[in-house]
Amino acid sequence: MAQVYTKKSLKSFFSITLMAAALGLTACSGAGDDPDIKARQDSMKSWGDAMGVMGDMVKAPDTFDAAVFKEQASFLAEDAANPWSHFENQEAMGNATEAVWSNADGFSAEADNFQKVTAELNAAAQSATSVEDVQPAFGEVGASCKSCHTEFRAKND
Ligand code: HEC
Repeated sequence: MAQVYTKKSLKSFFSITLMAAALGLTACSGAGDDPDIKARQDSMKSWGDAMGVMGDMVKAPDTFDAAVFKEQASFLAEDAANPWSHFENQEAMGNATEAVWSNADGFSAEADNFQKVTAELNAAAQSATSVEDVQPAFGEVGASCKSCHTEFRAKND
């Protein structure tokens, strides 16, 4: 009898766990429904695209196209201030970590630094004639993405 009982409670424990996992998944994929989460994720996605375009040139310096690089760098600098106001509502977590709210000063320091390094990359890009002219500033921007994600973006891998 005891064994049957154990099995049953294990089973219901298991289904509760599964249900929680399913709810967790729903919360993630439904995140796009929240306008704040959608707005900031859309920004981040387009930053990823811009970094990809510039990163390809950095990896293959003979493909450097000053006009395209400039365009991407100025897009990043212009959009760099946009996502942060979409992190006000703590209920709308998306893939942000608790730390966005519990360490709000740290998060805003990362956001400020990002605006600074993207402005510097944009400035460097305006007169750049080769990858060498933008590489250090590009590296700083990449480091800024990574540094913020380390603490403030939930790992999904
Ligand atoms: C100040 C912190 C911060 C900086 C700087 C930052 N990110 Fe993010 N990023 C986040 C957070 C927080 C999330 C999770 C947002 C969410 O799910 O609501 C995120 C999510 C993302 C995502 C996933 C978007 C999605 O659709 O779920 C991508 C891609 C991304 N960031 C790229 C970048 C790139 C590229 C840079 C640098 C050019 C960058 N981020 C800079 C904090 C930051």
